[in-house]
Amino acid sequence: MLSNTIKIKDEEFLELRDIIYKTSAIAFVESKKYLLENRLSKRLNELNFKSFKDYIYYLKYDNNRRKEMDVLINLVTINETYFLRERPQMDHLVSKTLPELIAAGKKNIRIWSAACSTGEEPYSLAILIKEAGLYNKANIEICGTDINSDVVEFAKKGDYKSMSFRGLPPTFQPTYFSQNQLIFSLNADIKQKVKFNVGNLTAPTIGAQMGKFDIIFCRNVLISFDMDGKKKVIDMFYNCLNTPGYLYLGHSENINKISTAYKVSNFGSGLVHLKQ
Ligand SMILES: C[S@@+](CC[C@H](N)C(=O)[O-])C[C@H]1O[C@@H](n2cnc3c(N)ncnc32)[C@H](O)[C@@H]1O
Repeated sequence: MLSNTIKIKDEEFLELRDIIYKTSAIAFVESKKYLLENRLSKRLNELNFKSFKDYIYYLKYDNNRRKEMDVLINLVTINETYFLRERPQMDHLVSKTLPELIAAGKKNIRIWSAACSTGEEPYSLAILIKEAGLYNKANIEICGTDINSDVVEFAKKGDYKSMSFRGLPPTFQPTYFSQNQLIFSLNADIKQKVKFNVGNLTAPTIGAQMGKFDIIFCRNVLISFDMDGKKKVIDMFYNCLNTPGYLYLGHSENINKISTAYKVSNFGSGLVHLKQ
């Protein structure tokens, strides 16, 4: 434990957990209490608060509460990601889904990487689409969004460290990045293929703001939502998808008990949820 860690009392944890849940659908279970203590103590110290009770009061009533809510969300989200993570779905997109849409005459194709963290997921898609020569066959737009404004700014810059390339062949970095000491900067031609914005998947207006998509990737985020949060987001995606529409979730995520609207197609090394 850090020397300046501020202990969170049970009732404070429950109240803070509710505040975070109402904004983001992220559901902190009791066993993650330590995570809130560790991640937020520094912020409480910066604001000169001695207890979580004071911080909760600030979040609820201070004139800066909206800004502070963003700071809080940026501190508590888990942003783990890396290039070509859960690659089989990306390969399926490039070898089956996009060629199918193009063969059906689609000229403009929109892909949403929802909850894209620091950008490795949408940039991986852009790289694979380029490698497959599909940018010559259709206008393919990729949008990356995340609730955390810090990771969105990071993604826009496109500068990465070696952690983002774990498990990848040594040819990957030199082909798409220029290296300056420990930083790998993504080449401009890939960078310009992805547009980033801050976006909260549980905000009532998100669907209308984002518009219609042919393909949605939403991976490794629903896992931190409760059933209600998952349902809200999965239904919103259904409304955002064109017909046909393709939804890729994380390998360990399924929507069996959440929605029957999608047809599930198993392609061997993964699933895609179809709007038909
Ligand atoms: C573990 S990362 C997954 C990144 C990427 N999709 C992947 O699979 O590698 C989860 C991301 O979900 C984001 N997130 C959590 N709640 C969200 C919400 N309500 N709306 C949008 N993004 C959210 C977090 O900020 C985090 O960057």
